[in-house]
Amino acid sequence: MHISELETPAVAVDVDVLERNLASMAEYAGRHGLQLRPHTKTHKIEAIAQMQRRHGSQGLTVAKSEEAEVMAHAGCADILVAYPVYGQAKWQRLARLARERRITVAVDSITPAEGLAAEAVRAGSTIGLLVELDVGMRRCGVPGPEAALALAQRITGLPGVEMRGLLYYPGHIWDRPEAQATALASVEAQLAAVLDALRRAGIPAPIVSGGSTPTARNSHRVRGTTEIRPGTYVFNDRNTLGVGACAAEDIAVRVLATVVSTAVPGRAIVDAGSKTLTTDRWISGNDQGFGSVDGYPGIKITGLSEEHGHLDVSQSAAPPRVGERVAIVPNHVCPCVNLHSRLFFHSKGEVLGSWEVDARGRIH
Ligand SMILES: Cc1ncc(COP(=O)(O)O)c(C=O)c1O
Repeated sequence: MHISELETPAVAVDVDVLERNLASMAEYAGRHGLQLRPHTKTHKIEAIAQMQRRHGSQGLTVAKSEEAEVMAHAGCADILVAYPVYGQAKWQRLARLARERRITVAVDSITPAEGLAAEAVRAGSTIGLLVELDVGMRRCGVPGPEAALALAQRITGLPGVEMRGLLYYPGHIWDRPEAQATALASVEAQLAAVLDALRRAGIPAPIVSGGSTPTARNSHRVRGTTEIRPGTYVFNDRNTLGVGACAAEDIAVRVLATVVSTAVPGRAIVDAGSKTLTTDRWISGNDQGFGSVDGYPGIKITGLSEEHGHLDVSQSAAPPRVGERVAIVPNHVCPCVNLHSRLFFHSKGEVLGSWEVDARGRIH
């Protein structure tokens, strides 16, 4: 079957581009002696996690304890939960998983560390902890060396857990890769101060986990970093393209949609609305449009109803007609994939199969 025969809306993944993206990031990490621990929140699919492991990633990253269970089911033996998990049921789940897998969790306060420690003792397991450091995003993470050291010292005194190092997320850096030097130097300086404080106190930090897709290939410039956690790089999207972190041919994913109405002059409506594309903005561009339409540079997706994508075709000499199909590059692929129960994968347009989005809805 050709992708043009798939019922729409559908998410189609070019498996050749996907493989190339996986190989290229693995090659970069290997060349610089960095461990690659991809964030699986982008795909949530066991088969892709297994592909990442075949490309040399011993460990994977998740945000949720249920996602950790899915990735353990996929055969991953070393899972990082890059999220300050809170709640006894979640701590219990991770403590049980830690009996058979190496589980590491990022924390930025003592309460979840104590909760994880208590559940690990009860389960007879050991959970690794990373102290999360805020390097500029102002989302999570302790603010600097004093707070990091204080938390690390308290963690060191807890039973059932093991202090394994630091985690940072440079998610505030959306400069083009060639213009990231100043921002990354600041991250490096902040890391160095914390690592120095830990060293002086005799607290080991064998893991320093960082990396996002926009900064991924500059990670070796942030000295001290031992592993990176890019997620979006597997598929890429309009945001990744806009920031210059990938080329157009590196975008592996398209949302296929059909024009269902052109009754309103200047408009074409497609069967992909906010429940298919998400309403995420184009943050690396001019913030206009809810995706780009292949082959129609003059057409903008100006609005979304739940099941209707509103295309402004007023500037197009030959707009698509009712029944015609379009291929859309989503602004932000991660939440888009999370809206679909299945992704179709193809090579040169020939559909080879589909993957269930295994961890979709596993939000605990
Ligand atoms: C803590 C953390 N690490 C890594 C990533 C992956 O970054 P990216 O989406 O740029 O690949 C994310 C993304 O949200 C994240 O929140």
